Amino acid sequence: MSSNTKSSEQPMAKDFSSFLSLEGASRKKSPLKSLLRFMGGDMISLGGGLPHPSTFPFYSLSAEVKSMDPTLNAESATNNTKAASALGDLVTVPHGPQPGKIENLSASLQYGIGTGIKSLREFCKEHVNQMHRPQYQDWDVILSAGNTDAFAKTIAMLCSRGDKILVEEWTYPAALEMIDPLGVGHVPVKMDGEGMSAVALKDLLDNWGSTPEQANDTKPCVVYLIPTGQNPTGATMSIQRRRDIMQVAQEHNLILIEDDPYYYLQFFAGEDEQKDGQTNGTSENSQSGWVPSLLSMDTDGRVIRLDTFSKTLAPGCRVGYMSMNAHFCTIAQYHNEVTIQQPSGFSQALLAEMLISHWGQEGYTRYLFENVRTEYLKRSQHLQMCYNKYVVPQFASFIKPSAGMFIWIKVHVDQHPRYGTVSDSALMLEVFRSCVENNVLMVPGWQFSCKPKPADIDPSDVLNVWFDDQATYLRATFAYASFEQMEQAMARFGQSLSKTFAA
Ligand SMILES: Cc1ncc(COP(=O)(O)O)c(C=O)c1O
Repeated sequence: MSSNTKSSEQPMAKDFSSFLSLEGASRKKSPLKSLLRFMGGDMISLGGGLPHPSTFPFYSLSAEVKSMDPTLNAESATNNTKAASALGDLVTVPHGPQPGKIENLSASLQYGIGTGIKSLREFCKEHVNQMHRPQYQDWDVILSAGNTDAFAKTIAMLCSRGDKILVEEWTYPAALEMIDPLGVGHVPVKMDGEGMSAVALKDLLDNWGSTPEQANDTKPCVVYLIPTGQNPTGATMSIQRRRDIMQVAQEHNLILIEDDPYYYLQFFAGEDEQKDGQTNGTSENSQSGWVPSLLSMDTDGRVIRLDTFSKTLAPGCRVGYMSMNAHFCTIAQYHNEVTIQQPSGFSQALLAEMLISHWGQEGYTRYLFENVRTEYLKRSQHLQMCYNKYVVPQFASFIKPSAGMFIWIKVHVDQHPRYGTVSDSALMLEVFRSCVENNVLMVPGWQFSCKPKPADIDPSDVLNVWFDDQATYLRATFAYASFEQMEQAMARFGQSLSKTFAA
């Protein structure tokens, strides 16, 4: 595969072959798939075992989707489900020949190569080009079945049993749960309100080998980051932080896995009227739009950027896309060919038709900017307003998020009358139990901890387990509950805290 957006002034990606795991280095193109390139034109194929499309019982695929026609009244389209439905566009993927460049339904439902269908992959690549302007020539894009799938493939490509990757000190638990059984370890890097600290990362790597735990480990060369609206802390890296991380990555020759599902859920400075407290992230992006990604700063081909439609369209689509150097892309393609093959043909067909024929690049970007982002901005503001109304500041605090779906609430256990006489974990467990009794659920902070879980704990026994004394946090999301429920939840949380702290 080669980039269709080459600029001869840009450098080529560096050679990162030496970073490949044995598995990554051994991946080969499937010989069966190699025959596909001869298909078309006058070729009569008696080759690949493709089922005959006449046996597909799907004559067409239709969905009513949000219209992004700029001439429609945006107000009524966003505010009211009924109105939006009346203003919806009917997207139909026909069985037979399609005018234009989009595959017809039988083509999308057929076996294909591991890159995903051409039209959707090209749409995603052009979107990446417009949003991130990669700064080297041979970057490319491949479709995935979402970031969970893309992360698993990335780890398989780069890591072997016994390797360790660097992660934010509070991180997405599924990432750790994915790598642990593979024997791939993780090393936490300190965070602040802007996510992973570049100073801490540099310090750790500059002094690698100086502690007994590190003595037998090779220096990690892969970093897993969630740079925007981080899960769980809500932190967003400032532009400067991103530059600093890139600098450390160049200095220590690192590969960065940029897992960025919340990228389009950014709240820009000035949009949030609340004046209190710090902001969890930067406001530098306010005038120029979206904060620059790590991919956009990468001149070497060392960033593997993972995007997903899960938070922008729907998680059930199970479609995402990976942007990275062409060599890594080819390996991911070979991996796809022997695992998922491609994301579901139904999803790809519908997304291609909606995004290309109905919305276009402009409509999709406008949808992200005007709809997805603003919905979560309103939700975030509402939860914060309710929090401020009901929670006594002495007992808990959070840093305002500037992206994502989460607030990361720090419980001030040191204000508890029994602080110091029992462990912080015991106090947090009391807070959590009280919340559950009071019918408000948040995720215990320890679930995002990088510390190894003691073998004798059953992590599913959440009412009796709190294993990390440092994890004096609860993660709350403003993504899902109704506005009324958010208010009720914060009222209950405030009561639970006050009750626990009175004990
Ligand atoms: C950081 C992070 N990565 C990946 C995912 C999963 O994404 P996907 O649905 O694309 O697999 C999530 C979802 O919560 C997430 O928070």
